[in-house]
Amino acid sequence: MGSRLVSSQPVPDSSPFRYQRGELYCEAVPLPLIAEQVGTPCYVYSRSAILNNYRHFSGAFRAAEALTCYAVKANSNLAVLRLLAQLESGFDVVSGGELRRLQTIGADLTRVMFSGVGKTTAEIRLALEQDLLALNVESIEELETVARLAADMGCQARISLRLNPDVQVETHPYISTGMRQHKFGIDPEKIESLVAVIKKSRHLDLVALGCHIGSQILDVKPFQDSFVKLQALAGEFGRRGLPVQILDLGGGIGIPYRGEAPAPIEEYARFLTEHRNGYRLVLEPGRFIVGNAGILLSRVLYRKTNREKSFVIVDAAMNDFMRPALYQAYHEVLPVQQREPSQTVDLVGPVCESGDFFAKERHLPEVAQGDLLAVMNAGAYGFALASNYNSRPRPAEVMVDGGNHRIVRRRERFEDLIELEQ
Ligand code: LLP
Repeated sequence: MGSRLVSSQPVPDSSPFRYQRGELYCEAVPLPLIAEQVGTPCYVYSRSAILNNYRHFSGAFRAAEALTCYAVKANSNLAVLRLLAQLESGFDVVSGGELRRLQTIGADLTRVMFSGVGKTTAEIRLALEQDLLALNVESIEELETVARLAADMGCQARISLRLNPDVQVETHPYISTGMRQHKFGIDPEKIESLVAVIKKSRHLDLVALGCHIGSQILDVKPFQDSFVKLQALAGEFGRRGLPVQILDLGGGIGIPYRGEAPAPIEEYARFLTEHRNGYRLVLEPGRFIVGNAGILLSRVLYRKTNREKSFVIVDAAMNDFMRPALYQAYHEVLPVQQREPSQTVDLVGPVCESGDFFAKERHLPEVAQGDLLAVMNAGAYGFALASNYNSRPRPAEVMVDGGNHRIVRRRERFEDLIELEQ
């Protein structure tokens, strides 16, 4: 790899995004080739990285006999879903739209968890028409609604109860979900009411208890704590005549964005193997599977300086990639042409908001108009969170497989933006 990498946190050896002869590649495809053929901004995904991440994850939890249900919300591109379905992944969905994506690719719906704090009756009906692994219910009123709809439809609803384990995690407050002040899950104190509703209905079949404590968590302790709580609660339900077979621990395992130590998933897996006591387990990783498998590729439009700052303005913006604006998230930025860092700049987009930045006070190499930059680790919650703010068409998505690449979602056109308007 010749000269030193331009970043203080070098691309790890296992990354599919690596410099070859001074140019950044995804697998065996040079990124300038993609930029030229597809245009910028665009998302670029590595098929092999998704494959490896999935195998790493499901392999680590094999001894614990956990079913991996990929959280579709992290990246719901059909090509990504198809790849994971081929690997026999299960899925976690949180809307009728996500479920319909899985129907579109012909995924095995018996391995699908349907979560979400506010499912509509249309979504519940859609779920009940399929033979899903379970509908993950998040309130007593939802439970009653499911019972009523299942009775109307004359079917059995296989349900899971998402409980709120009141476990604190170290992550951004917007993506911490497992404490009492959060809207998620049901307070375990409500157990008697839950049991009463379930026993009263002939249409509810309680198969699982679940929780999801948050996202981008790099420490295993909170997962272990919530598993212990969940298992104790399963005992409580069992003692009341409602034994469950499945414990669903949700997703949330973080990835290194800034050179952090990776989450010790093997330790988590060992803990589950030792403590699962015969329960079947479900895990719902999103970020872990796709996060480091994607980048946002963009081109420098302009540079400017004032008395205080230097700015690099690129053609991607917060509408294309929300994480920095929304969570003050740190994302590595690499120049596609490898060079030493020599300046401190703010990397910003064209949108009319000061929150439209990708990096602040970042040490980057000198760049010129037309140069390409890669925002790293953008495969999870990248395109999925993109919007049309400022009437900007959403970027194209490209999948790289070895030396080949193909567009898996074309760039939106202006006509797409106005199509639904009268
Ligand atoms: N299961 C449930 C019920 C969830 O709500 C989530 C994520 C997951 C699984 C997957 O979590 P993961 O393994 O990806 O951490 N937009 C934010 C993340 C929001 C996560 C929402 N729930 C971000 O960009 O950081």
